Amino acid sequence: MTQTFTRMDESTAEQWAVIGKETYAHQGRVADRALDMLRSLAEITDGFAVDQLTHSLQTATRAERAGADEEVVFASLLHDVGKAVSVPNHPEIAAAILKPYVRSDVYHMIVAHQDFQGRHYYAHFGADPNARDKYRGEAWFELAERFADDWDQTAFDPDYDTLPLEHFEPLVRARFASAKIV
Ligand SMILES: [Fe+2]
Repeated sequence: MTQTFTRMDESTAEQWAVIGKETYAHQGRVADRALDMLRSLAEITDGFAVDQLTHSLQTATRAERAGADEEVVFASLLHDVGKAVSVPNHPEIAAAILKPYVRSDVYHMIVAHQDFQGRHYYAHFGADPNARDKYRGEAWFELAERFADDWDQTAFDPDYDTLPLEHFEPLVRARFASAKIV
């Protein structure tokens, strides 16, 4: 057993090489945790017609059937995973989890998704349904609009032919297998 440090200011390059190797070897934990968080969304219904796992699966199913690329389908599946922790700031939580594993436009699609969804329900809360307009001109605007309007806001249908989590599991494992350099 290699002797390692008890405080960082006494650490060596060799010890950090071991930590780096161990961390890399256990990267699979990321997908395991994300899948656990997704499964936990089955416990959250909170007045919607479907639970939040079904909603997530249906959003990803709709994206996949519309021909979205793998990163977009992956992010569609995980876009509400932050709700497993805290609903009010769930877009930021999900986006932070996804950030090292998706390209920039996909990250922005997730971090801003609530304001794009707002077109379809913010009026019921006295908020601005055009909240998305502040992002007009961004390179990712059209993608975020398609995500919210075509896949996310429509994904509350209990009668839709929603694909199961097992269908998406290989994609989740593949995409979380290595982080992009950030
Ligand atoms: Fe959603």
